[in-house]
Order: sequence, then C-alpha cells, then structure tokens
Amino acid sequence: MAAIELIDLKKNYGPVPAVKGINLTVADGEMIVLVGPSGCGKSTLLRMIAGLEAISSGHLRIAGSEVGHVDPADRDIAMVFQNYALYPHMTVRQNLEYGLKNRRVPRHEIGRRIADAADILEIGEFLERRPRQLSGGQRQRVAMGRAIVRNPAAFLFDEPLSNLDAKLRLQMRVEIRRLQRQLKTTSLYVTHDQLEAMTLADRLVVMNGGRIEQVGTPIEVYRRPETVFVAGFIGSPPMNLVCLDELGPCTLALPRETNLIGIRPGAIKLGKGAADDLGFDANVELIETVGDENNVHLRIDGTDKRLVASVPSDQRLREGDRVTCYVGIDGLHPFNTATGRRTD
Ligand SMILES: Nc1ncnc2c1ncn2[C@@H]1O[C@H](COP(=O)(O)OP(=O)(O)O)[C@@H](O)[C@H]1O
Ligand SMILES: [Mg+2]
Repeated sequence: MAAIELIDLKKNYGPVPAVKGINLTVADGEMIVLVGPSGCGKSTLLRMIAGLEAISSGHLRIAGSEVGHVDPADRDIAMVFQNYALYPHMTVRQNLEYGLKNRRVPRHEIGRRIADAADILEIGEFLERRPRQLSGGQRQRVAMGRAIVRNPAAFLFDEPLSNLDAKLRLQMRVEIRRLQRQLKTTSLYVTHDQLEAMTLADRLVVMNGGRIEQVGTPIEVYRRPETVFVAGFIGSPPMNLVCLDELGPCTLALPRETNLIGIRPGAIKLGKGAADDLGFDANVELIETVGDENNVHLRIDGTDKRLVASVPSDQRLREGDRVTCYVGIDGLHPFNTATGRRTD
C-alpha cells in the first residue's frame, strides 16, 4: 500500500492538451473516484499513473518515490479495465497465475494467493473454465482477481463496470466497495457515472476539460458544489440552474456577484411556503413517476425557463396545473456565470 502523489501532471497529444496540470494526493488506503464527462482526460490520467502513457510534464510519486519514468511493470500497480482483458485461451486459474509466474513468485505462494482471491471473490467454482464460459459479471470478478493476486501498492480502475447491465453494475459496485474496504488498497477509480462515483468514493475528484473542478467527500461536493459545472454534473435529476432575471422580482439578499441560482429538484416545494422562501409561479408541463417521488417538469410563468421538482408521489398534481414554487434560503446555490464559481 502507498500514497500516490500527482504534482502539476500534464499530458499533451501533439499540440493538444488532454490533461492540464493535476495536483492530487491519494492517501494510503484511500479510494478516490475521478468523475467527469467523456473526453475530460480521466483515462489519460490513469494511464500516465500506470505507465501506459508518457508524462508530458510534472511529477508522479508512489510511496514517496518518483516513478514518472519507471517501467510500467516495475510500478507495482494493478489496473482493471472495462473490457476485462482476460486471455481467452487460458483458464481462469491460468489467467490469475500469469502475472505472478512472470514475476517469479514461488509456486506455493501463487497457490495461496489464488485460493485467497477465489475465496474473497467467490470464483472458486470456475477456476478451470475459460473466460467465454463465464457471464459478464463473473469475468469482471476474474479481472478483479487478477489485480488482487498481485498484491499491488495500488489499484487503478478504468470504468470497470460500464459493460455490465444495470442490476449487475449495482451489485458489482457494492462488491468493489466491500473489497476495497477489506483490503485497504490505495485505489483510483474512474467513471463517467456520477451515482457510481458518489457511492464508491472516500473522496470525489470532479474533472472537466483536463482540469480538476472540485475535490471533496461525496456529501461535501453534493451539498456545496463550488462551480457551475459541478452543480450541473453531480446529482440526479440534475440541479436546476436559473438566471436571476428568470425568477422575476427577487427580494432575497444574495451575494453581490450572483447572477445564477442553482436549485436541487428536491429543494422545490409546491404549494405552501414560508415568508423567507424564494417564491415563483410555474406551469406543470409533465409529471414522471419514479416510485415514491414524481419528477415534475415546470415552466416558470412568463418565461421559457424549465425546471424539475422532485415531490412525494402522493402530492396531487396534474399536468396543466398552475402552481407556486417555494425554495428555502438553504436550498439556493448562488453562482456567477462569468467566473463559473460560487459567490458565497
Ligand atoms: N492517443 C491519443 N491521441 C490523441 N488524442 C488522444 C489520445 N487519447 C486520448 N486523446 C484525447 O485526449 C482527451 C482525453 O481523453 P481520455 O483521457 O480518453 O478521456 P476520458 O477517459 O475522460 O473519456 C480527449 O480529447 C481525447 O480525444
Ligand atoms: Mg476513458
């Protein structure tokens, strides 16, 4: 186990910058999730750490040693990909053994590690099968097993669950979390799925356009997004972002530079509000039922601005209703569009 330090790490593909200066320390035993839209540089960053991609500038340290120019095989890092990368002609056991034999791990030690990993991952019964005789979830477990048996200083995961169906993805997500807690191996996990990121991370790193937007625990980032980008990216349904002038006359005391307000769907109450709430009228355009809650699609009166409110599904509402919306002062996230940042 070891800490991973990234110091002003950059990657250019020719003249094109893909990673624009990342500063981050993953603590020993910590699980950090890098989340951001497709193309924001997540895989490039991970591949630089693994040594699969050369670093353009900056420093990379693992357990205090500079490893930016160390051969990938000597970095003591295991990577798990979405496409498993298992050898099809080898059995599960042979796939697990392969990396260890190459590293000249003694035979009895290999046997012990495979037995341990098979136990943890519950793959003991298909050790003699080939990958094509396994389901997607089982293959993903074998890919995890191959990382575990190496007993590396760190795990890197690049969207390992993207090829699985929704139910299995949820199940594997829980397993990965449980496994990481049990093994306490320093881990960097990449995903574009904000829900996966929220549930897996000790700390979240939200990336956009090759840079870090915000670092924090999932709840910190959710409660206090520091940028407009993070506000719109973390949370489902996404936070509503409304220009101040679309809300009509507003008497609330907001920080001076504020011209944009973020409101989580769950923070909007329809019907009765208190005196110190933000209030505005809207039309109910569409109601989506998602179980205990309904997502109510609203259009603010006199504007084309559309919002989503999540309200208990037992609240009586019909499409075409005109409603008054209330948001408590704690539910308002003030931003400035020029800086893209919070104003409070
Ligand atoms: N080998 C490459 N050559 C040129 N450009 C690349 C290469 N790999 C990635 N890129 C570019 O770098 C940016 C970041 O890509 P990537 O790290 O794969 O993003 P993510 O994993 O977040 O989707 C993208 O604009 C992508 O097109
Ligand atoms: Mg990627």
